[in-house]
Amino acid sequence: MHPTVDKTARYVLGTYVRAPFVLERAEGMHVYDTEGRAYLDFGAGISVNNLGHCDPDVVAAVTGQIARLSHVCNLFHSTPQADLAEALCESSFADKVYFANSGTEAIEAAIKFARKYARVTHGPGKTGIVAFYGAFHGRTAGALALTPKERYQAPFRPLMPGVTFAPFNDPAAALKVIGPETCAVFVEPVQGEGGIHPADPAFLQALRDACDRFGALLVFDEIQCGMGRTGTLWAYEQTGVVPDMLTTAKALGGGLPIGATLLTDRVAAALEPGDHGSTFAGGPVVCQAALAVLARVNDPAFLEHVRSMGELLTNCLHGVQSPHIREIRGRGLMVGVELDCDAAPVISAGHRRGVLMLNAGTHILRLLPPLIVQPEHIEQFTAIFAEALAELDAA
Ligand SMILES: Cc1ncc(COP(=O)(O)O)c(C=O)c1O
Repeated sequence: MHPTVDKTARYVLGTYVRAPFVLERAEGMHVYDTEGRAYLDFGAGISVNNLGHCDPDVVAAVTGQIARLSHVCNLFHSTPQADLAEALCESSFADKVYFANSGTEAIEAAIKFARKYARVTHGPGKTGIVAFYGAFHGRTAGALALTPKERYQAPFRPLMPGVTFAPFNDPAAALKVIGPETCAVFVEPVQGEGGIHPADPAFLQALRDACDRFGALLVFDEIQCGMGRTGTLWAYEQTGVVPDMLTTAKALGGGLPIGATLLTDRVAAALEPGDHGSTFAGGPVVCQAALAVLARVNDPAFLEHVRSMGELLTNCLHGVQSPHIREIRGRGLMVGVELDCDAAPVISAGHRRGVLMLNAGTHILRLLPPLIVQPEHIEQFTAIFAEALAELDAA
């Protein structure tokens, strides 16, 4: 066992279950451990390394900026932040951007903005938030209150009040809980942690209509499914439904921590200096990284590549003969394979064969390769995946 494994157990708070090897370096589609073993990465650091590892454009953007001006707090202007806000607005429905440092912080901001907008526009009392079973919006106190997983919520109750949950993809059930007291509805256009469940466009349209009827804001959480992952820059583009706010993070920073809450001018008009803030958010280094990522991902040829690789991956997976596969679903390069058994042994078998993949819940394998994936990687992955499944029965 590598000494880092023992040191981690000794000194790092044990809130994660980690694989038993130590990653040391990475390039493109591969990461390498301290023994020099290569792993084909079909997890992308949970949908973060969309351009693969150590992308030269991202490395150049970061190293150039860190040598020029590494940090400037938000009491001063900095051009990378303004440029990134402009690029995000020009590539989406949004008019304004609030920067944060992570996905969960982007959600916290959206919660506060929805509450403030409702208070300014409709008066006090309109504070209810609707979210959905299977959702994952983050771990901080507010975001956790919108994440209806008993295991995550139970030890920390009481949580932020005012949150109601409805079944995902069930318009009739959602309409029963959205009302005059609702200030916002939060939904992932493709649920990630919940098991790779795409939202039906008709479901999102029903939410849009209900929000409009009651003066509530529709918030799309694209922290996992955005930034090209589903084959369009934003997943909502494939649904025909436009939100009032959108949260992004993960892949936006090319491996550096960033979050952003995108909003319309109508919502932004309710917010003023002092309403929210962060020391590090929107710093020049991470904004330069994000500008490099956005320039590459928001390109029609790149997004077409994502769609065709997504199709190839799904077709290859359908070709795998295993009694353990119940369903294959997803959008673009966000693919879930539901098994009739625990996903953990398949993930471990993948590690032994040099492949990284993720789970979503106990029974679902979550495949999120870097978007630069090529057909030969998909073929190699599929062969190893089939062997890993076959090992279940040999055991
Ligand atoms: C849809 C979604 N929202 C929010 C989050 C929280 O983001 P972070 O881990 O950056 O705080 C995640 C993380 O997995 C996510 O997938």
